[in-house]
Amino acid sequence: MKIGVVTSGGDAPGMNAAIRAVVRYAIPRGVDVVGVKRGYYGLTINQIRPLNLRSVGGIIHLGGTFLKSVRCPEFRTPKGLEKGRETILKNGLDGLIVIGGDGSFRGALALQTAIEIPVIGIPATIDNDVTGTDETIGFDTAVNTALQAIDKIRDTAQSHGRVFVVEVMGRDRGFLAVSIGLTAGAGVILIPEIKFNLDSICQKLKLYDEWGKTTTIIVAAEGIGDTYNVVDHIRTHTRFEVRHTILGHVQRGGSPTARSRLIANLFGTRAVELLLDGAQSKMVGLKGDTIISKDLEYVCRVKKRIDRRMYKLAEELAI
Ligand code: ADP
Ligand code: F6P
Repeated sequence: MKIGVVTSGGDAPGMNAAIRAVVRYAIPRGVDVVGVKRGYYGLTINQIRPLNLRSVGGIIHLGGTFLKSVRCPEFRTPKGLEKGRETILKNGLDGLIVIGGDGSFRGALALQTAIEIPVIGIPATIDNDVTGTDETIGFDTAVNTALQAIDKIRDTAQSHGRVFVVEVMGRDRGFLAVSIGLTAGAGVILIPEIKFNLDSICQKLKLYDEWGKTTTIIVAAEGIGDTYNVVDHIRTHTRFEVRHTILGHVQRGGSPTARSRLIANLFGTRAVELLLDGAQSKMVGLKGDTIISKDLEYVCRVKKRIDRRMYKLAEELAI
């Protein structure tokens, strides 16, 4: 058996650990592994290299992906898919492991339909917006990176008695913002899934002030739109001093946490097992503390739900 492994979409800390797990679990079981460089783009231009046990040495602790990743618009077209199909045939691949987010899995499903080789997805994105898994590789690392930054922001916010609006990533979903907000002790969390009113936020800040809270951190998901509007509104409608921080891509880098690496190890090995067992188009996932698998078709069709209890809890504890 010969399989390919590809990292696609936005990178996530722990992708390297996942590639290592795939390679080191597959080879001793008689499976040859090749790496596809630069996401689906590499499939369209046949950028493939063999991987051995040593090619994945010294990478378990590194953020990013040594296979590189790009967003490849061409892969969404029949021509791009056809090029991918040719590369797979040319290299004699019997299966493909795709490490990425929901967009990458849509690509995986399209490819599976076009060529009918088994495709297994490993969820890896800091956004944690993939259906069929409680957690994605990289999410825990991004939450912790953001927390470290916000803890520092809190120091200066407290010294000056300021309100801070901190924008965190999450392309169009609020999973990161809710986890970061709850654990950073944010007074307000703004996410695209839950409607908010800027005047009510100002009222809340005034109430907090009456209660003796001198500092409030507002964690806002990038998916709500321009977070500067929130800053501007508070500035014009209250007497509070407000500052704005966009954490940005700092959340995507850095050494993966133990949890991100653990999930990477468990997902990588299960993905190989699924291929060996003859699975066709599945994604590995985490449910509680159990590793599960779901149909890629289901993963791509169903939208993951925000845990509103976590959101509410953050609100309740912000008093
Ligand atoms: P993520 O996997 O992190 O969600 P993207 O949404 O950018 O990232 O998707 C990664 C890549 O997957 C895209 O650049 C594109 O090459 C491929 N892709 C996404 N959607 C499709 C689709 N419907 N058909 C084929 N390929 C797709
Ligand atoms: O999907 C992960 C993510 O980091 C999102 O949170 C963010 O919106 C997007 O990628 C940024 O993408 P890019 O790296 O292409 O700017």
